[in-house]
Order: sequence, then C-alpha cells, then structure tokens
Amino acid sequence: MKGNVAVIGAGLVGAVAGLSLAQEGYNVTIFELRADPRLADTGDKNLRSINLAVSNRGIRTLRMIDPQMAERVLADVLPMKGRMIHDLKGNQAEQLYGLYGDAIYSIDRGVLNENLLHEIELFDEAKNEGSIQTKFEHKLLNVDFGNDSDKDSPVEVTFRRKNHNDDVRLKFDMIIGADGAHSTTRAFLGKKVRMDYSQQYIDKCYVELYIPPSDDPNNKFSISPNHLHIWPRRDFMLIALPNTDGSFTSTFFGPWKLTESLKTKEQISSFFSDQFPDAVNLIGENTLVHAFQNNPKGSLLQVTCSPYHFKGKCIIIGDAAHSMVPFYGQGMNCGFEDVRLLTELLKKSKYVSEDAFEAFTETRHKDLLAILSLALGNYHEMSAKVTSNLYKLRKAADGVLHKLLGDHWLPLYTMVSFRDDIPYHEALEIEAHQQRLVSIFGGVSILSASVAILYGLKRGLKI
Ligand SMILES: Cc1cc2nc3c(=O)[nH]c(=O)nc-3n(C[C@H](O)[C@H](O)[C@H](O)COP(=O)(O)OP(=O)(O)OC[C@H]3O[C@@H](n4cnc5c(N)ncnc54)[C@H](O)[C@@H]3O)c2cc1C
Ligand SMILES: *[C@@H]1O[C@H](CO)[C@@H](O)[C@H](O)[C@H]1NC(C)=O
Ligand SMILES: *[C@@H]1O[C@H](CO)[C@@H](O)[C@H](O)[C@H]1NC(C)=O
Repeated sequence: MKGNVAVIGAGLVGAVAGLSLAQEGYNVTIFELRADPRLADTGDKNLRSINLAVSNRGIRTLRMIDPQMAERVLADVLPMKGRMIHDLKGNQAEQLYGLYGDAIYSIDRGVLNENLLHEIELFDEAKNEGSIQTKFEHKLLNVDFGNDSDKDSPVEVTFRRKNHNDDVRLKFDMIIGADGAHSTTRAFLGKKVRMDYSQQYIDKCYVELYIPPSDDPNNKFSISPNHLHIWPRRDFMLIALPNTDGSFTSTFFGPWKLTESLKTKEQISSFFSDQFPDAVNLIGENTLVHAFQNNPKGSLLQVTCSPYHFKGKCIIIGDAAHSMVPFYGQGMNCGFEDVRLLTELLKKSKYVSEDAFEAFTETRHKDLLAILSLALGNYHEMSAKVTSNLYKLRKAADGVLHKLLGDHWLPLYTMVSFRDDIPYHEALEIEAHQQRLVSIFGGVSILSASVAILYGLKRGLKI
C-alpha cells in the first residue's frame, strides 16, 4: 500500500476523496463527527433531505474513480435541462441551459451521501490494493504536524469519541481535511503555515420548504420535473428542484431582516400569496406557514484561503478550502473536482505527496477565486437578471453565436456547468472577453439603429 491516510469528514467530498485515494492504493480511514447516517434515526435525516444539482465536473470525478460506481451512485437523478421562471401571475417560461440538451441533475443529498458510503463498503469487500474504512462519532480535536526537520515523521491526530472518556491519538502519513466550511483541519493548518484567510457572510438566509407529490394518479409531478424552478423577485427568491417521488425541495432565499420579520401566520401567508401565489398552492398554505416558522434558517458564507497544504502532510479540499454561496450549484461539484485534480497530481508525483500538494495550491487557487466570484454574481442573475429583456437578448445572442462559431463562442453557464475541460478561471476570462465584444457589437448596433432612425426621420421630414 502507498501510505496511511486520514480523511477528516465523511460528507460528500470526504467520501469521494476516500474512495479515490483507496482506488489509488492508499490505506484510507475516514473520520466523521456525526453518527453513521445509515444507522441514525430519521429525525436528523429529515432536516437534511434536501437536494442539490450534480453537473459535469462532479460526474467526471465519479467516473474517473470507477465508471460503474458513478452509474450506481447517480442512479436516482433527475435531469434538469433548464430553468422555469415563474412570474407574479403564475405564468411559466422556460430558459434552456444548453443548446444540445445539456442538463444538470437533481439528486437527494442524503441519498447521494448514503450511496457513497455504500460504495465504501463495497470497495472494502472487493479486496483491492488500497483499503478504506469509516469511523463515525470521531471528532477531530487536534492535529500535531510532527517533526519539522523530518519530512517522514507522521502527523498525529486526536479524536474525541462519543460515549468514551479517553481520546484516541493516531498517526498517519498524511491527512486530508474535508470537514466543511467551519473546518477544524483548516484551523490547525492556519496555525502551522502562513495562511491567508477570509470569510464573508452574505445578507441572505435560506429556508427549506417542501412541495408534495401531486394527487393526480397519471402525473406525480405538479410542475415540470425537468427544470430548476425559479420565482425571481430581486431581493428574495424561491427555487425548487425535483425529487424522484414527485415532490420538490423548495428553498426560499431572502435578506435576514425580511425573513425574520415574517413571524405570524398572517404575515407569512400574505407575503407568499403576494409574491409566489402559484407556489402557495403547490406547497399548501398551512404546510408553508408551519415550515417557514419551524425550519432552520441557514446562513450563507464564502471562505477563501491559501495555501491549502502543509508539506506532504496535510491538505484541505471541498468546503473546508472554499465554502461558496449556492447560486451556481457548484460547491460540491467543485469539491469533487478538487478530488480529481489532487488524485491526478498524486499519480504524477508518484509517492511524493509534497509535490502534489504544492502543485495543488499553486494551480487551484485562481480557479477557486473564480468560482467563488461567479457564485456570488449568480444570485443577481437568478433573482433578477433572468427577467430582463437585455439578459434574454444576450442569452439568445450567445446561443446563436455558439451555434455559428462552436467553441469560439461559449456561453458562461455552459463553460461552468457542462465543460469540465475549461478551468473556472479560464471560463471567467473567456466570458470577460466575450462581454467586451458584446458591448462593442451592442454599441455599434445601437449606434447604427439610431443613425437609421434619424436618417429615416429626416427623409420623412423632407417628404
Ligand atoms: C442551500 C444549499 C444548496 C446547495 N446546492 C448545491 C448544488 O446544487 N450543487 C452543488 O454542487 N453544491 C451545492 N451546495 C454546496 C454543497 O452542499 C457543499 O459544497 C458540499 O456539501 C461540501 O461538501 P464537503 O464534504 O466539503 O463539506 P460538508 O458537506 O460540510 O461535510 C463536512 C463533514 O465533515 C464533518 N466534520 C466537521 N467537523 C469535523 C470534525 N472536527 N471532526 C470530524 N468530522 C467533522 C461534518 O460533520 C460533515 O459531515 C449547496 C449548499 C447549500 C447550503
Ligand atoms: C491501515 O489503516 C488502519 C487504520 O489506521 C491500520 O489499523 C492498519 O494497520 C493499516 N494497514 C496497513 C497495511 O498499514
Ligand atoms: C527531528 O528530526 C531530525 C532529523 O531526522 C532529528 O535529528 C531530530 O532529533 C528530530 N527531533 C525530534 C524532537 O524528534
């Protein structure tokens, strides 16, 4: 075996990182502070039974690890080929994501996590070169990076176990921190290396709501199952993603002050009936009020840091390295892409993890900054721009130009969501260039249109 690795966190990214490294021949142990979700009672599960969109970058990583595994893990997804915009009157208008039927895929977060844990079990039974095991109810407490002048000295990690009085201390050749936005691994790494770090909360909170399957025996979906539904209202919005059972997970995003001002049944009912009348019918008024009053209100934050590693001993990936607001649907996909890039680098540098980690920090940072800024910018697109005529015109122009020019003209959404061969920072650069051309071209067209109108007027006056 290639070495003993501890992965901290059995969330989506930690599970995938564990599988990928085990596939590469490492001896992997994943430590997770929560209880095994497969054993836990459903109380906690219901809260987390939200869905997310998997796209091209995420899928590529799963396929890299094992194409058949990718199929099993993604068996229950629903393709969403575009947005469905709901206006104030309840009218719906479709906006396709891609020209060639490209889709992003809705999947239940809990199902995805359990499917990945199941794959971990399967892996261990299959007697591969590497091996992988999970330790639940292990909370990372401390990281000791070992002897600085001896690069082969192990990292020592301390865990607190539930229902145990004594902590466990274990030694590993390297540790991968995939312990989420409030990462403990990152905190220790930040004490060891000169890490730049920033954290920004945005003034939006989110509340999850639930649209039940319809009563219609011929169609369990009360709205299209192949779209990501959006009720864009500028400062706030509602979205809904389909589940295979006919239900939809809907999420309200709005400023904290507004959301917290909606307290009583009357306030909530009248706000939703004014702003999202068709959604109230889909959710049901009483269910809506109950959910809005009782479901947790989540905060949204962006985290950036650099470097991501210490020597060949520790690296952070996923939300631990780059928590982002969810408006581009890329958080997990980007975390999975981290896993692919890290795996490829580890392969390249054979057994020297230091080179791989170093290269990861050097090459990945600009892409992470790019996707963080894209994610933040996309709130505006989803909540407001989608309804503007100029935006629709630009989208239409993008479509035509892409059809005419192929890869010489790529819509931004296509590059981010469907083109894993284009790094995020390149997508941002290409879009900036295209935007400049559109401005020039747009300016020229407005100018010529004005000249034509003036000329016409003059002629008209002369006659
Ligand atoms: C409302 C919303 C919608 C989203 N929609 C999408 C989407 O459509 N598409 C998309 O790609 N992304 C989406 N995201 C982002 C996505 O959820 C995250 O990027 C992804 O879950 C990150 O995975 P992770 O494994 O890095 O972190 P997490 O999922 O946070 O997992 C970290 C794990 O580490 C464990 N842990 C923490 N501390 C310790 C410790 N000290 N010791 C041991 N274990 C520890 C935690 O219990 C947890 O299980 C969305 C996010 C939100 C909030
Ligand atoms: C693999 O890791 C486990 C857990 O840390 C350890 O008990 C086991 O001895 C390791 N196996 C090898 C071959 O190093
Ligand atoms: C650290 O490693 C160096 C080089 O291997 C060794 O000389 C030194 O004694 C070690 N220090 C400790 C505290 O183990």
